[in-house]
Amino acid sequence: MSEPAAAPASSPAGSPRTGPGPNPGAEFDRPFDRTGTGSIKWARAGATPGGVISMGLADMDLPGPPAVAEALATRAAHRAYGYTQCDPGGRELVARWYRDRHAVAVDPDWVLLLPFSPRTALRLLLEAIAPARPVLVPTPEWAGFTEICAAAGLPYEEVALSVEGDGYRLPTEEFARRRPGAIVLSNPNNPSGRVWTHAEIRALAEAVADGGAGPGGILLSDEVHGDLLHPDHGLRHPVAAVAAGDLARHTVTLNSVGKTFNTSGVPSCFALVPDPALRTRLTGLMAGFGLWEGGLLEQTVQRAALADGGPWLDALLRHLVVARTRLTDVLGSAVVSRPHASYLLWLDAAALGLPARGARAALLERCGLELSEGTGFGPAGQGRLRLNYALPTPLLDTVIDRLHTL
Ligand SMILES: Cc1ncc(COP(=O)(O)O)c(C=O)c1O
Repeated sequence: MSEPAAAPASSPAGSPRTGPGPNPGAEFDRPFDRTGTGSIKWARAGATPGGVISMGLADMDLPGPPAVAEALATRAAHRAYGYTQCDPGGRELVARWYRDRHAVAVDPDWVLLLPFSPRTALRLLLEAIAPARPVLVPTPEWAGFTEICAAAGLPYEEVALSVEGDGYRLPTEEFARRRPGAIVLSNPNNPSGRVWTHAEIRALAEAVADGGAGPGGILLSDEVHGDLLHPDHGLRHPVAAVAAGDLARHTVTLNSVGKTFNTSGVPSCFALVPDPALRTRLTGLMAGFGLWEGGLLEQTVQRAALADGGPWLDALLRHLVVARTRLTDVLGSAVVSRPHASYLLWLDAAALGLPARGARAALLERCGLELSEGTGFGPAGQGRLRLNYALPTPLLDTVIDRLHTL
């Protein structure tokens, strides 16, 4: 993957390294210059400041939590950089996060603290689950799931989401009818930001519990967007391990501070694995690759984010609600499914006057906005685009001006 041509990787531009004290949200109203930081998002767009605006890859053009910056600086100042074991308080910290942010009880014994990205974790989890029957994946859906199944040689089938009222629903009966060995989905949905209901997640857990045998029969719920619920909807995020109730052993819940706090440059994630046998299989598989729970920078970032990142996250969510409202006002009926979470909008190209094929290129050509092509989200993505609106206010103003020219 190539880096931005004009980006001196060793000399980040004068962007803020630590944020202000009491009002982290004020920073989101100022320009944020990522030049020289090696941003893959901007490199992919082939973008230049003032020219193309990159709204593709799911990462945020917003300064990260001051608590993370401070923790990294403090830890880096101690020159002990050797093999680092798992933080003894890490599992309780994750359980506390779920209690405080989602009002649910998570058993700390379920928690695995993983020093690698969610994508790597999904691959290892699917290999450890070794489903006896096909894996079901909704569409539209983040393409990583089908890519990982293909890479692991696991048969998979795609199930189209249904549309009812203001947005997507999970066709839970269809999932059950196909007797899956595993179901993998993003909860909330990427690309649409749809929050699933507790009943939908419970029904999927029932579908895998009925359909699988032995080590199969797992609902793998990827909840990396689950801490980004917009406060104005008053919805609750259905944490799969909890929503499944007595079927918790048929679930794995995957989460990460990477999406929530925009720290994916230091890959880490954590998983709730209620089934002890599956935990053992996973850690055994990890050991075969020289991977263990722990890691120096990963845990520094994760601990700081979960312990002290709450005020930054609250400010972020307020910012995202304002940005989402401004954009949905402009985009109107082009928004396919009403968004409840994260910083993503799923758009109908035709409603924007764009061709169904090549909509991304056409939009880029017309007004210099770079979105993700819908076909990257499975068969249901034909004629769709995904827009990432995690932008500072001045850049969002420019985006809205450009959308008005369409
Ligand atoms: C639902 C979902 N899962 C997993 C990932 C992968 O995250 P990473 O690339 O940090 O592994 C993404 C990235 O966009 C995602 O949206």
